[in-house]
Amino acid sequence: MASTPTPVISSTGLFTPSQSISNEELVASFNAYVDLFNSRNAAAITAGAIEALAHSSVDFIEKASGIKSRYVMDKAGILDPQIMTPRIPERPNEEISILAQMAVTAAEEALQRAGRSASDVDAVICAASNMQRAYPAMAIEVQDALGCNPDGFAFDMNVACSSATFGIQTAADFVRAGHARSVLVVNPEICSGHLNFTDRDSHFIFGDVATAILIEAADVVGDAPHWSILGTKLKTAFSNNIRNNFGFLNRTAPEGIGAKDKLFVQEGRKVFKEVVPMVSAMIAAEMERLSIAPEALRRMWLHQANANMNRLIAARVLGHEASEDESPTVLDTYANTSSAGSIIAFHHHSRDLADGDLGLICSFGAGYSAGTVFVKKVG
Ligand code: COA
Repeated sequence: MASTPTPVISSTGLFTPSQSISNEELVASFNAYVDLFNSRNAAAITAGAIEALAHSSVDFIEKASGIKSRYVMDKAGILDPQIMTPRIPERPNEEISILAQMAVTAAEEALQRAGRSASDVDAVICAASNMQRAYPAMAIEVQDALGCNPDGFAFDMNVACSSATFGIQTAADFVRAGHARSVLVVNPEICSGHLNFTDRDSHFIFGDVATAILIEAADVVGDAPHWSILGTKLKTAFSNNIRNNFGFLNRTAPEGIGAKDKLFVQEGRKVFKEVVPMVSAMIAAEMERLSIAPEALRRMWLHQANANMNRLIAARVLGHEASEDESPTVLDTYANTSSAGSIIAFHHHSRDLADGDLGLICSFGAGYSAGTVFVKKVG
């Protein structure tokens, strides 16, 4: 009887937008919007009918989140106090959609780094928070644009910020089951499209990016350097603390169209308090199951939402304050990029690891949803 194929991570790819917005630029535009709003609504504010909006602060953003800047697909629209939204023109159906294009760029880098051709890819999973449209799936568009195996398959899946780790486990299971030998998981995120840039509590949180992860059967990879997957664990627990109620039924309740809840909304403090213990306990349990001692863990590539959250989680797992080397940060320049965050950290900060080093890719976010992928460097 043929043995079960072993899935490994052979490479990753990254697309970073060319435009970036600093906290200073973002706060200046937010404060200009606030001044406009308050002067336009001066009478209602004086009458007590509505509350005046308050200014945002660079200092607050950096201390509360660790974010200093973010990459975006359209800086001009976001920073225009009259618009406060990225402007991304619709494309004709004959042209590749922008999210698929970002995913293709990241995927091409992953394929090139692995020395693989697109025709070797049997499956594409687009695992992300916000899809271009309901259908056809972006993953199928990516499969077509790359020229993947025409006998293969592709589909979209959404587990919000945890989409990438859920995608990795799904891809690994396809490899184990023999349904595919090479699977691309792509995570294109235009988070600026669902961010309310007029909301002081959250206007600084997100950025845009795309990542790609190539998961393959070990015999496809052979002697080339790769990451063996020691174990994956997924967990979900329902919470209303991070929501986005945008959806196809919105038009059936027109009174709600344009309301704040049709974009990203969260109770950030509650998320912080509830997710830190949930994720720390999940990582600890998985390390016990896999017999990995804290001192054996060389690096953690954590979800990139909040630097203080990551400091706490890493300290609980390692038993001491983690160094940048043990738990690298990318949210300072990328901000929260939803599903892509931990993969950007892995992509930028994994080449220096040596044969046998152990690491953890970990995501957490809306749902709640959380995923861990323990890996070992081979080669
Ligand atoms: N500028 C200045 N002050 C601000 C501000 C801004 N942009 N936004 C909020 N504040 C104020 C608040 O009004 C509040 O003032 P008060 O104390 O007078 O009431 C104070 O700062 C603290 O606000 P709070 O919301 O409690 O801040 P926080 O320390 O919890 O930080 C987050 C906010 C969002 C950065 C943080 O909670 C977080 O990142 N949580 C995790 C979120 C997460 O992981 N989400 C997953 C998303 S996928």
